[in-house]
Amino acid sequence: MKTIAFTNQKGGVGKTTSTINVGAGLAQEGFKVLLVDLDPQANLTYSLRLSSNRLENSIYEVLKGDIQADEAVISHNGFDIMPSSIDLSGAEMEFANEPAREMLLKNSLSSLSKDYDYILIDCPPNLGLLTLNAFTAVKEIFIVLQSEYLALHGLSKLMDVIQIVKERLNPDIEISGIICTLFDGRKNLNKEVVDHIQDYFGDKVFDTIIRDNVALAEAPSHHKTIFEYAPDSHGAKDYKALAQEIRNGQLQHA
Ligand SMILES: Nc1ncnc2c1ncn2[C@@H]1O[C@H](COP(=O)(O)OP(=O)(O)OP(=O)(O)O)[C@@H](O)[C@H]1O
Ligand SMILES: [Mg+2]
Repeated sequence: MKTIAFTNQKGGVGKTTSTINVGAGLAQEGFKVLLVDLDPQANLTYSLRLSSNRLENSIYEVLKGDIQADEAVISHNGFDIMPSSIDLSGAEMEFANEPAREMLLKNSLSSLSKDYDYILIDCPPNLGLLTLNAFTAVKEIFIVLQSEYLALHGLSKLMDVIQIVKERLNPDIEISGIICTLFDGRKNLNKEVVDHIQDYFGDKVFDTIIRDNVALAEAPSHHKTIFEYAPDSHGAKDYKALAQEIRNGQLQHA
């Protein structure tokens, strides 16, 4: 079982889009996949859920200990989701004084780990308590970077936080993948940025670069993954290739 957090404290870089479509791609490869929406914005949840689903059981109730993790799980086409809700936006303060407040997610997910091959966590765009919970609960971190100017700006802060979590809370954690997304091949700048990212992270950068593709931006309003919404799009091809690369890389390491 693999647990992976998709992270970057910078907003709008493609974390949620990557969590959904890597997850859907791995599900198509035959793996059992759970997507965990750890962002109070609940973008992953709204991007996928059928409007008839009701959400009184969300990750918020799970973290609070009101319900068991499996009671919050809903299934999409071929994979499962643990939805978020706006209630989670108060969590940073609400849980601030709890003992072992960084362990809440790890403890909640432990009962589910036997049911899945991959648990993918979509992090919020900050380095607060929820992100610390993600880093404590996983073995692997994928950093999602937009192929734009300033892609690496602020990254040293993220690396510091990961290092602190590794020392104090979760010695097993490692940055095992860098996803470059929103790539526009017509812009020389985008190519330069990807070169720069490769210089910085070396072979941790996935070979598959996710192109800027309008279908990826449209799919959420139809509550669909890219494979359901536009299976012939560049977006579908790129995320299929990335999911296969993730699977193959991890077979090698296994
Ligand atoms: N490869 C892409 N091509 C075109 N649009 C994209 C692509 N990836 C993401 N988008 C769009 O860019 C916006 C930001 O993407 P997304 O929500 O995945 O980022 P995020 O990092 O999760 O944002 P936040 O930090 O707010 O959680 C969304 O409107 C999404 O549909
Ligand atoms: Mg997001």
